[in-house]
Amino acid sequence: MSRAAVLTGLGAWAPPTVVTNEELASCLDTDDEWIRTRTGIRQRRVIAPGEATSDLAVEAGRRALKSAGTTTADALVLATSTPDRLCPATAPQVASRLNLGTVPAFDVAAVCSGFVYALAVGAGLIATATADSVLVIGADTFSTVLSPSDRATRAVFGDGAGAVVLRAGSPEQDGALLDLGLGSDGSRSDLIEIPGGGSRQRSTGLPTDLEGTYLTMRGQAVFAQAVHRMSESVRETGARTGWPLETVDRFVLHQANARILTATAKRLGQPVERFVTNIDQLGNTVAASIPLALADGVASGELLPGHRVVLCGFGGGLTWGSVALVWPQLNTP
Ligand code: UT7
Repeated sequence: MSRAAVLTGLGAWAPPTVVTNEELASCLDTDDEWIRTRTGIRQRRVIAPGEATSDLAVEAGRRALKSAGTTTADALVLATSTPDRLCPATAPQVASRLNLGTVPAFDVAAVCSGFVYALAVGAGLIATATADSVLVIGADTFSTVLSPSDRATRAVFGDGAGAVVLRAGSPEQDGALLDLGLGSDGSRSDLIEIPGGGSRQRSTGLPTDLEGTYLTMRGQAVFAQAVHRMSESVRETGARTGWPLETVDRFVLHQANARILTATAKRLGQPVERFVTNIDQLGNTVAASIPLALADGVASGELLPGHRVVLCGFGGGLTWGSVALVWPQLNTP
């Protein structure tokens, strides 16, 4: 019997500070109606001064381990594009704070597809018997990389973290990751970027460098790519799994914009009611968005054991990826 990675625990954490559309409108040229109708977002969460991505990752990781009924994991994979520092990776610190000992721990940077990429890495560690269990976390704090004057990105992004525990099992078990399809298109890397701070555009130490440390996004072009890539990716994963899309109970897509979810559902010819969403409460939480949507889907009863589920991420890079699984019975953390 072949060895599969099986999802056995789920945890999520969003920082308590809420920023409503009205609060954004009090300091930016925007309003609640524009944000709600163009994005579906009503509010987002942001970290407090002094907090960092690792703090959210630890909270979500702790909850996922508890949900899996364990305190250990053989490896930790952290999907993030807002690490605490550029160097070293954030994952080892998270592993230490979770008392996981000296297990392998590293970051995966695939922006909003990060969680699906990290699932694929975790599944690979299990398939090769490098690990019997892997803690996979998606955590981002994009509030720390947004220009205070950019109304488009500040309306969209929020902070959060979500995590799952993968354990070696069989493909027949509920929770087994059945198909993982990933892709990228680096020729469109300029559509979402933070130009400064890396080896291409180093800091000269001048105050004008600050602009380069902010996220830039060409919203309309990204929107079109998101719909195109996610619908293709979901279609391919459905076909490889042998699941006609009509038989998929829930689609859990990256929560980038409610209109992207509606347009993708339409492109796939599937009712939008089967697309789990929590974007109104949390906005776009980047690598955390899929596990946060899973946690909210479970809490609301939208996502039930036995459901056929397809997860799909899309984001900067450009990158995208999907995974199919039958939703397992989990303990609530
Ligand atoms: O996470 C994965 C990657 N991210 C995404 O998938 C995000 C994809 N893109 C989007 O969600 C949307 O493109 C945005 C929400 C970012 C922007 O919405 P849009 O409907 O595409 O607006 P737009 O960029 O075409 O801009 C239309 C107008 C512009 O004004 P002018 O040039 O027509 O005068 C913008 O400046 O809307 C303006 N605008 C705003 N107005 C009020 C942009 N943001 C705001 C705002 N409030 N917050």
